[in-house]
Amino acid sequence: MSTALVKSLDALGRWEQLDAVTGAVQRVVRGLPLGRFRDVLHGLPIGHPLHPALVQVPMGAWASAAVLDTVPGTGRSARLLVGVGVLSAVPAAWAGWVDWAEQHEDQMRTGLVHAVSMALAIGLYARSWVHRGRGGTVRGKLLGFAGLSVAGAGGMLGGHLAFRQGAGPNKTEPVPRLLEEGWHPVGRVEDFPVGEAVRRELGEVPLLVVRQVGGEIHVLAGRCSHQSGPLTDGTLADGCVTCPWHGSVFRLADGANIAGPATAPQPSFRVRVEGDGSVYVRLPGAG
Ligand code: FES
Repeated sequence: MSTALVKSLDALGRWEQLDAVTGAVQRVVRGLPLGRFRDVLHGLPIGHPLHPALVQVPMGAWASAAVLDTVPGTGRSARLLVGVGVLSAVPAAWAGWVDWAEQHEDQMRTGLVHAVSMALAIGLYARSWVHRGRGGTVRGKLLGFAGLSVAGAGGMLGGHLAFRQGAGPNKTEPVPRLLEEGWHPVGRVEDFPVGEAVRRELGEVPLLVVRQVGGEIHVLAGRCSHQSGPLTDGTLADGCVTCPWHGSVFRLADGANIAGPATAPQPSFRVRVEGDGSVYVRLPGAG
């Protein structure tokens, strides 16, 4: 049963007929003049996607309203919770849309169905709130239970998107576990032309190596923390690298992410240059 359910959820990600819609909506979302607020919605200031945190409020409010709907004499409180859920779903949806617009095609297909489900749930709850205010308690409760069912299904899609399709996690999290602790040779100074992005591999981990004009060598994990984009194909400017896939910007000196959609920094390696020009790197915390 659960396998059949997961297979059908997986099939959503292969539903290419959705691409015409996802492409059009993606252009609209990317074109919104959000400025730096876009990074706030991604969750860059908190180092974690904001959308999963924000959805706790409407889902919690709606679930609580459903409980109150089974308790006599709590109609006003239940209506209040329904309204709180509808209002708090708005910023959660904004955060979800800006994340969605920077995902892979299969993730965007699932994400679109997730978003439509949640929009339907919001609509049902908005109508529930109106009916409750007019004294239509039974209809308001029925609309609320319908909204909770749809929101639950939409939430399950969100979980599938995040955990099965990997839309949200930091993709560089395994890097320290894939490496041996200590110093490792990656070449000689002359192997790294000044101002060029050079790819090296340390075991299974690709690296981005950049020698700056002043001679300093910076080394970051080579796959982007957002969706594993190849940073060695990115653009170097102002001491930073811009990911070629969705434009996240990381500082070469320490891997800090300056601009999203990535919310996690890039693992940054210590660098040691021996007297004979050999270059060694070490990742703090590796092993
Ligand atoms: S993979 Fe998305 S910004 Fe790098």
